[in-house]
Amino acid sequence: MNILILGSGGREHTFTYKIAQSSLCKKLFVAPGNAGTSEMATNVAISVTDFTAIKDFVLKESIDMVVVGPEDPLVQGISDFFAKDADLKNIAVIGPSKEGARLEGSKEYAKEFLFRHRIPTAKYQSFTADNVAEGKQFLETLSAPYVLKADGLAAGKGVLILEDIEEAKRELQNMLTHKKFGTASEKVVIEEFLDGIELSVFVLTDGKNYVTLPTAKDYKRIGEGDTGLNTGGMGAISPVPFADESFMNTIEEQIIKPTVEGLAEEKIDYKGFIFIGLIKVGNEPKVIEYNVRMGDPETEVVLPRVKTDLVSLFTHVSNQTLDKIDVEIDTRSAATVMAVSGGYPEAYKKEKEITGIELVSDSLVFHAGTKLDGENIVTNGGRVIAITSFGNNFKEALEKSYKNIEKLHFDNMYYRKDLGFDL
Ligand code: AMP
Ligand code: GLY
Repeated sequence: MNILILGSGGREHTFTYKIAQSSLCKKLFVAPGNAGTSEMATNVAISVTDFTAIKDFVLKESIDMVVVGPEDPLVQGISDFFAKDADLKNIAVIGPSKEGARLEGSKEYAKEFLFRHRIPTAKYQSFTADNVAEGKQFLETLSAPYVLKADGLAAGKGVLILEDIEEAKRELQNMLTHKKFGTASEKVVIEEFLDGIELSVFVLTDGKNYVTLPTAKDYKRIGEGDTGLNTGGMGAISPVPFADESFMNTIEEQIIKPTVEGLAEEKIDYKGFIFIGLIKVGNEPKVIEYNVRMGDPETEVVLPRVKTDLVSLFTHVSNQTLDKIDVEIDTRSAATVMAVSGGYPEAYKKEKEITGIELVSDSLVFHAGTKLDGENIVTNGGRVIAITSFGNNFKEALEKSYKNIEKLHFDNMYYRKDLGFDL
């Protein structure tokens, strides 16, 4: 099978690593890819949202399967684009339809879906510039902290959690009438604050059947002790130690099943990953968000633990036969630590030479933001390289990643040294 992966981060390098190992994969391409993916596949300089260029390439290279990494092409309807095109309709696309992708593309849509299917989540109301005053009144009925979410995609930055009610009212106004997050905040969801510990659950569905992949916990804040600005993710571990069998059963019954059944009931075409962000409140799991793709850096710890051939799994997704395959999971723990450019998630410099990669031993190196500059590998993003390791528990796995990440070097490299501190 000839396969095209869309994306350029650590998630996509991990997909590349897994798919390149499959005997079912003949030729493997990544658009646009990074220096890491170029070592195990062919990079092609096509943007993930340039559907016309993707079509031309897919036809030229006789691609049989497209694996979509990031949310943008999904929210823009790449699956529908393939399904509706006479030349492309028989090509497998791993990623939901545009309607399915709204679970991530609109917070309000996701909340309405959750309530329709009685899936546990925080209570909420949504507001636009036309009813800001009512929004402020709704804030008065809640207690601090106040959670404000831009409805649309805001590159992970659209959620504000504020202690002070006056500030919450001001920010609501900023989001709605001054478009603080552009068009994404033309509508704002105000939510009850959930107090608890977070984890993520990953599901692969064919629209009828599903398999549950390993759990993971990521570390979103730039600073140690979970302080400072939100990032795409500074590291992750899998599995999550507090997600024991009984808690996972509750998640399956109350959240996973009603989600997959709800999609089917509503006739939403969904062949791909569902990434469910949860908070454990007391002993109850509650949904904070859906993403319609894998997480990054969660993929870097989840997929290395999946022993089943990934291409075979994806073929079952495409044929809607996921009930016919068992997923084998590595019982060891995995941890990943992300090396980032100094300054990230604010301004940072690119094109810094990276050295020491070849010194890493007994860990996996996943490139997140790198490119080739002649013979050299240089930085090309805020998040640069993730080092994934296995261990008998997450502490052992983390120790290996820390030992190896010290061997890397680039100007102003930074990483968090306290991952797992909260467990
Ligand atoms: P989201 O983009 O919806 O995942 O929100 C980003 C982050 O904000 C989450 O990972 C949580 O840490 C936090 N968050 C979102 N919603 C809530 C909530 N209702 N209560 C507490 N924290 C929340
Ligand atoms: N690490 C969070 C995300 O991928 O959305």
